[in-house]
Amino acid sequence: MDLVIMGPPGAGKGTAATRIKEAYGLAHISTGDLLRAAVKAGTQLGLEAQGYMNSGKLVPDEVVIGLVKTRLGEPDTAAGFMLDGFPRTIPQAEALESMLEGIGRKLDAVVSIEVEDEVIIRRIAGRLICPSCGAIYNAEMNPPKDGTCECGGIPARRKDDEPEAVKTRLVAYKAQTEPLVAWYRGKGLLLPVIGEGSPADVFGKIAHALESRMRERGC
Ligand code: AP5
Repeated sequence: MDLVIMGPPGAGKGTAATRIKEAYGLAHISTGDLLRAAVKAGTQLGLEAQGYMNSGKLVPDEVVIGLVKTRLGEPDTAAGFMLDGFPRTIPQAEALESMLEGIGRKLDAVVSIEVEDEVIIRRIAGRLICPSCGAIYNAEMNPPKDGTCECGGIPARRKDDEPEAVKTRLVAYKAQTEPLVAWYRGKGLLLPVIGEGSPADVFGKIAHALESRMRERGC
């Protein structure tokens, strides 16, 4: 199964992706995580991306497309992949289509998590990420025990979760990414899922939608 998971910032893509990866054994490709790793490593690409990310703007298409192309060439994607946070613009979606055509693959579904802005703002305000293993917590709804992650790391706030950057990310989502919802609906790939309820409820809705899609496709 080859998937895209999309939705506004803080909708719960990363949280759902962890459960989807475990349930279906897919390679999880998060462009946000790839970019944050490049920033942490201080690579040329990371230095280029950092300013855009901290202010909440999208990193230029050519940078992200190159990253995804390389990652899709890795062997763990052979059994299926889940792109999280990519594509985010129509040119990225077109580039993905031609990349997949080049390797004889096609997307099976695009899961779109839909959440109201007030819920997004509340979720992002409480989010804590473990800098060591990437586990996602929420200070209000799912706090790390004694402030420490299971791996021993100390979860912290992301730089782009400050209110000004969140506003910019929401504007970027509406202007540049939301048009992809109609684009993928037009291609018969869209599976819209309401992202409210607990993480287990949201995963249950996604699994139900994916399994119906795979049955339709005879998989
Ligand atoms: P990225 O890392 O992709 O960030 P994002 O899309 O803004 O999404 P988030 O990671 O903020 O949220 P999420 O939907 O994964 O929510 P989460 O599960 O953490 O991108 C960061 C930046 O990188 C971009 O701004 C851009 O600069 C750059 N970038 C990345 N990809 C790019 C691309 N393709 N092109 C150009 N630039 C790119 O959940 C949020 C919180 O809610 C957590 O605390 C969680 O515990 C909680 N939560 C989740 N689900 C639930 C639930 N059901 N109930 C209660 N709480 C919940």
